[in-house]
Amino acid sequence: MNLSIEKIINQKLAACFDKLGLDNSFAVVKVSDRPDLSDFQCNGALALAKKEKKNPREIAAQIATELEKDQDFAKISIDGPGFINLSLKDEAIAKILDQIAADKRFGVAKVSEPKKVVMDFGGPNVAKAMHVGHLRAAVIGESLQRIERFFGNEVVSDVHLGDWGTPMGMIIAEIIKQDGNLDKALNYNIDEITEFYKAANLRCKEDEAAKEDARQITAQLQDGNPEYRRVWQHLREASVSAIKKNYDALDIHFDLWLGESDAHKASGEVVKLAEDKGLSELDDGARILRLEESNKPKPPVILIKSDGAFGYQITDIATIKDRVETLKAEEIIYVVDKRQSLHFEQVFEAVDKLGIAKGVKMVHIGFGTVNGQDGKPFKTRDGGVMTLENLIEMSKEKVSESMPSAQEAPEYSQDYIDNLTRQIAVAAIKFQDLKNSIASGYVFDLEDFAKFEGKTGPYIQYAIARINSIIRKAKENNVAFGKIIISNAEERVLALKLLQLNNTLHRALNEYEPSIISDYAYTLAQTFSSFYNASPIISAETPQLAASRLQMAKLVRDVLTLLLYLLGIEAPEVMLKRAENE
Ligand code: ARG
Repeated sequence: MNLSIEKIINQKLAACFDKLGLDNSFAVVKVSDRPDLSDFQCNGALALAKKEKKNPREIAAQIATELEKDQDFAKISIDGPGFINLSLKDEAIAKILDQIAADKRFGVAKVSEPKKVVMDFGGPNVAKAMHVGHLRAAVIGESLQRIERFFGNEVVSDVHLGDWGTPMGMIIAEIIKQDGNLDKALNYNIDEITEFYKAANLRCKEDEAAKEDARQITAQLQDGNPEYRRVWQHLREASVSAIKKNYDALDIHFDLWLGESDAHKASGEVVKLAEDKGLSELDDGARILRLEESNKPKPPVILIKSDGAFGYQITDIATIKDRVETLKAEEIIYVVDKRQSLHFEQVFEAVDKLGIAKGVKMVHIGFGTVNGQDGKPFKTRDGGVMTLENLIEMSKEKVSESMPSAQEAPEYSQDYIDNLTRQIAVAAIKFQDLKNSIASGYVFDLEDFAKFEGKTGPYIQYAIARINSIIRKAKENNVAFGKIIISNAEERVLALKLLQLNNTLHRALNEYEPSIISDYAYTLAQTFSSFYNASPIISAETPQLAASRLQMAKLVRDVLTLLLYLLGIEAPEVMLKRAENE
């Protein structure tokens, strides 16, 4: 069942267009720009008149006359040069809403042809602590994978670890420098490994010979040197467990924990393919693939670096080959910092030339940067890099300031309060990340994110918990759920808002944009508030009205819960708040 209100009206309009012999591709409505005048508007008469060189107002009038025969419309009027304004009857709105309330998918159908979608959105690097930049990739990616799955697409998400580049050689070289050999390497824990990486980084910045060393070791590691492989395996495992902990804390999950290294074999095959197709050439010791100069001129793709190792570009190309061949990907979605746009343009173009992903849709969803209030990348209070772990801790601390203690809320256990604190802290971080369009960056300001009012995650969680308590009280007062009746303006506005769910979720899917959902969740919660202020439930004028309002409240609660779920956020049953000091 797909209950899109726009589609329902479009069909009615199209039938009128057909009757009048007009091109029905113009029979399209959208939510009115002037909700005070009408619910929906159709601008099709204008475009149609232009195409057919007719008078738009006349065409609009013909359509309106035809449409008036339909019992579902309360008001049809023509505005300006030929806009058709449409308002539905309250009963028509209520009828559709009843159907939505009765459907467990709220009238949002799955896609008719599900696709196999591979999602690449983690991108953490072995031996490097995850920072707030990695937060965005994961938070946006998790939301997009939930949206894709909700619509019935088959998603396989892959973390695509950075585990095959020069940093690997750098750490191994650094351990050898400090210890004289690799004897102790397998004993180092993740913190020690990270320290080695930091030291290696400093050393390689100043010392060209050290850098060369690291490159050699990387090439040998890739080539299969057994000792290096053993150490690398350990570095990788230690990093993966640390990374998993961070993702788990944020309720972010991957199906596959593959990395750049897993594309090694396919990288060799890609080089061979490029050679066979006459697409590769030697350039200053490196093997490269030139891209079309005709489009936007782009630097060539490096297939093999001059030191003999595979780099970032070929690895991504080879990974696509694997994803198409073994995972049967029909679409591949990358959620990666938008500063890597050129990289993906190069990769996609090379893949095209090589013909390794024919008919596969490839999309790079590039996100903007997270900065501190000084406009620079977000740092800890003492100026260090803000790790993801610190960030989650900080958010929890902030939220716990407004949580009651176990003594203040004796009916709840400390475990319950701790878990609630975590749920709210994660909501604060995630919602902030998903509330603006992906491409724009934002300023990290916990003070702001963790507020319980305004456009925040905790605010939506509160709205849900409040409705839970409204429902509990109504039940105690024997109010039942009933058919929806629209009896006042606030009910009508809320009902129309709920009818926007279908369109909203489709837009979020098609535009790969979770902020469309967060926006809608926020306005829906606000609309509910106005509705509830004007429309009491227990003291409603009639039992039927009480039952209708309770039904609407439940629908809002369930829809908000779904919306939060699609953003990757949990909806606690109850919310607690420390009593304000008088
Ligand atoms: N590891 C990379 C980085 O930290 C991100 C990887 C993104 N995914 C990809 N397939 N290139 O920059």
